[in-house]
Amino acid sequence: MFRPTITRQALKALNTSTRPSAFAASSSSLRSSFVRPLSSSIPRTKDNKKYPKNGFLESATTKAPQGASGEQEGKYARTDEDIVIPYPDDAHMPAQPIVQGRGGMHFKRTLAQFSLENKVTVVTGGARGLGLVMAQAIVASGSDIAIVDLNKEEAETQAKKLVDTFRRENPGLEQMPKVTAHYSDVSNPDSVNASLQEIIDQHGRIDSLVTSAGFTENFDAISYPYDRMQKLWGVVVDGTYLFSTGVAKHLMERNASGSIVMIGSMSSSIVNIPQPQAPYNAAKAAVRHLASSFGVEWAGSNIRVNCISPGYMLTALTRKILDENPDLREKWTSLIPLGKMGDPEDLMGAVIFLLSDASRYMTGAEIRVDGGYTLT
Ligand SMILES: NC(=O)c1ccc[n+]([C@@H]2O[C@H](COP(=O)([O-])OP(=O)(O)OC[C@H]3O[C@@H](n4cnc5c(N)ncnc54)[C@H](O)[C@@H]3O)[C@@H](O)[C@H]2O)c1
Repeated sequence: MFRPTITRQALKALNTSTRPSAFAASSSSLRSSFVRPLSSSIPRTKDNKKYPKNGFLESATTKAPQGASGEQEGKYARTDEDIVIPYPDDAHMPAQPIVQGRGGMHFKRTLAQFSLENKVTVVTGGARGLGLVMAQAIVASGSDIAIVDLNKEEAETQAKKLVDTFRRENPGLEQMPKVTAHYSDVSNPDSVNASLQEIIDQHGRIDSLVTSAGFTENFDAISYPYDRMQKLWGVVVDGTYLFSTGVAKHLMERNASGSIVMIGSMSSSIVNIPQPQAPYNAAKAAVRHLASSFGVEWAGSNIRVNCISPGYMLTALTRKILDENPDLREKWTSLIPLGKMGDPEDLMGAVIFLLSDASRYMTGAEIRVDGGYTLT
């Protein structure tokens, strides 16, 4: 059972050795010559005579002390503790512009399965950023919507703009979508229950949920303020948990099917560099596994739970962070195979797919929308 692994490791060692002639050997002869205890050292070749005992290859292995092969060691794989980015207070938070000219009715043929007609969808953290743009996509796809946010004033302003934009882009349409704004601190159970009740009172029911409330901050792990860490886990993990269980309970009481989409992050499976953000990464890993766990637990009730893991998306807030830390832009884009940050609109398709019947055989799944970041 372990043999293939050992063979792979031995071949990997071979590939990093200095034996170009070995590549010409047949795979069976490779296996017989290089399957050996992993603790033994890589055989030295005639070419090694060229290099002193601690030659350039050895200096790049664990046999040599740190730094022996130059300053590049770990250069593209480490966090930088000098990067400190606290989450701005509300007064300094930029507003997310409403997407123009994309949400209108169109007459091109598309699958009816993607429609959210006659649904009521809740989006947490919907006053800004990704939540707001996804809310627009949800309205454009036929659903009524309840925008939930800590900042109710911004949620109300954006709810109004959303309906105004929809009206402008759909001239002649008589029935406007119902868009409401609600206060909630998603990390507080009483606040969550109160806002869910308010939404049910105003809309009659809830069919779907998108949990987008969340934030990130950058401090190195040792200096991370404990109260900020608790706050982050409270909003990202507890907030996702509380809203999802609240909506699932409501669906079960109605004996209705539903779809929940959690906004995770590529940080759930990789460690971002260079900015340090250990609590956020761990919190998003928890979100991803909550989607799987709830997906299994509620499958019998016909409630699907999936997760979208975005990469770097250029929201109004990310724009502000990059304006203040211009070096980050180059570092981030250099690590993305598609070479670009995502636009919030790039999540529209994924969220509608997961909310709609188009994904009815999917639960507990993760869709990564990250330009390929997690692949390399
Ligand atoms: N922007 C990105 O590049 C990116 C990448 C991956 C994942 N994400 C995730 O996407 C989600 C949305 O991020 P964003 O970039 O749109 O952020 P954002 O700051 O623009 O919007 C987040 C919204 O959540 C609200 N919020 C914060 N705490 C809350 C609380 N306790 N209760 C209710 N609402 C609260 C904020 O008021 C804000 O309106 C987050 O979960 C984030 O971690 C973002």
